[in-house]
Amino acid sequence: MADKEGIKVAKDYHVEEPFANQGDFHVKGANSLDWGMKKHLSRIFDPKTGRTVMFAFDHGYFMGSTSGLERLDLVIPKLAPHVDVLMATRGALRTCVPASLPNGIALRVTSGSSMLNDDLSHEVVAVEIEDAIRMNADCMAVQTFIGADGQLSSIDNLSRVINAGFRYSIPTLGVVAVGKEMERTDRFFKLATRILAEMGCQIVKTYYCDNFEEVVAACPVPLVIAGGKKLPEKEALTLAYRVIQGGAAGVDMGRNIFQSVHPVEMAQAVRKIVHEGATDAEAYAWYEEMTADRS
Ligand code: 5RP
Repeated sequence: MADKEGIKVAKDYHVEEPFANQGDFHVKGANSLDWGMKKHLSRIFDPKTGRTVMFAFDHGYFMGSTSGLERLDLVIPKLAPHVDVLMATRGALRTCVPASLPNGIALRVTSGSSMLNDDLSHEVVAVEIEDAIRMNADCMAVQTFIGADGQLSSIDNLSRVINAGFRYSIPTLGVVAVGKEMERTDRFFKLATRILAEMGCQIVKTYYCDNFEEVVAACPVPLVIAGGKKLPEKEALTLAYRVIQGGAAGVDMGRNIFQSVHPVEMAQAVRKIVHEGATDAEAYAWYEEMTADRS
């Protein structure tokens, strides 16, 4: 390992230059992967736009029942037509999501913490690769805790999932956790996203921050951005617009969709930004028009 002393701060991200190994495949960093991986990635990232609207409702894996997700069986079928990918636990998928839905599937495969713990950074791989194959998962989501107490075990979890994923051509989605002790700076997100990509993740989920374009440029796989805590709809759409402008390949939004007063219209408004080139102002104006008589 290189000596940590005297390391120069990285600064030349060439944010204006497109990724140089794209080939003819629409997903960043995936040009050299095999057909099976590319097939799964094409169910996540729309080949027409190269982007994705992922809908995260895996919160129950550590929060239990959450506001807006009390009845997955009622909520998910309404939202599914407006998003590309459903990100969930196997329990939620098997019990509440019709297998007939055409969406891509991001299967959460780690767990081990709950809201009752102070330190949420210790997880295990809870789903075997055979179950991801049985469920035809398009990627496996692994929580990682860079800089936290559970860093080593989460990197161990991630490596196991990536190795199994390569055996069966299922991509791994590395999720950058943020917590009490972790910074939310571009310095932290550049470090964490790059570590996950170099570990072999095909997709990384992270958060928006200052200098986001540099975080994108330094990460050789697509970034999808979490919505985070519930914001007013206008602000959440501005967040979606900024991440797309900054070069993210999409969003993986949860609470800002399912806790919206109008979740279906909110998902559609996010979609307009991600896939249709709408600005945040245009998407919000559309949202207001669609929901005016129900506010
Ligand atoms: C936790 C996750 C969750 O899926 C994600 O945070 C949920 O999305 P949101 O923050 O938008 O509610 O990956 O790390």
